[in-house]
Amino acid sequence: MGSSHGKAILLGEHAVVYGAPALAIPVPGLTVTATAQLLPASAELGEFTFTMTGSGSERVVMQTGDGLRLLASEFKKTAGITDSPQISVRISCGIPPGRGLGSSAACARAVVLALADLFDRRLDAGTVFDLVQISEGVAHGRASGIDTLATGSPTPVLLSDGVAREPKMRFDSLFVIGDSGAASLTKHAVELLQRRFTGKPGAQAEFVHRSEALTRDAVQDLAQGRIADFGARMTACHELLGSVGLSTDRIDALVDAALAAGSPGAKISGGGLGGCMIALADEPHRAAEIVTRLHKAGAERTWVVPTGRFLFHGC
Ligand code: PMV
Repeated sequence: MGSSHGKAILLGEHAVVYGAPALAIPVPGLTVTATAQLLPASAELGEFTFTMTGSGSERVVMQTGDGLRLLASEFKKTAGITDSPQISVRISCGIPPGRGLGSSAACARAVVLALADLFDRRLDAGTVFDLVQISEGVAHGRASGIDTLATGSPTPVLLSDGVAREPKMRFDSLFVIGDSGAASLTKHAVELLQRRFTGKPGAQAEFVHRSEALTRDAVQDLAQGRIADFGARMTACHELLGSVGLSTDRIDALVDAALAAGSPGAKISGGGLGGCMIALADEPHRAAEIVTRLHKAGAERTWVVPTGRFLFHGC
């Protein structure tokens, strides 16, 4: 068996594909479990069979099916498996797909770990990363690795200059995630941005530069305990992503609702063109108010991710 969890990006999505830093948190309440099993040899079945359960699992299969097959055959090479056993992998995915919550990376990670377990192989973190990235490359078109890292980390992840580390967090907070109810493909969002940049000289450099400055400043805010400033950078990042066409009316309405409820900052989270938004809350009562307002503004679902001392608050 192998398991993994969801993630949410706080700052830097899309720009991270072009080498800028990005910051993400794990969403441990959204989980994926994969179970791999050897099957008796049968001519009708391919080498690998993937079965998915969970809401919207057809969409996960659509997004990740080819990538999972690729990573499974690469796993065989890495693990030195030379014969062709028939393998069935069942994936139970509790992460809603197409919402920027890391369903594709989490499924891929769970599959890699399940295959390693089945063949009794110990894979180091770098090998797991490389295998998951094979599948992510198919799902995103170009994958930065931030989802691959955050879906395997128990703590927040800062990916900067190709290196992942845990950022210093000097304030305790809660993050409220609101689902707009509209699914989208990360690949389409990544391609949309590529096309936009192709037509406008200098636009890519400007976008990446502004995102990089926001993320670097936000990391300082986090380390210095400046929650209001951190929130303001999140909202500025939302405006930046909106300015290149990645937000939607529904997401904008949810961001406005969170800010009206007293959130220090809110933004779209992940690939965009639908999916989820994320709002910062300084206290549990504020998180509860944001949840209420998000539902009134049309959120299909919400999740609260506590950090620091609020982890033990029972919210
Ligand atoms: O999987 P999503 O929709 O959260 O997108 C991940 C973030 C991107 O920057 C859009 C893509 C990437 O690989 O970094």
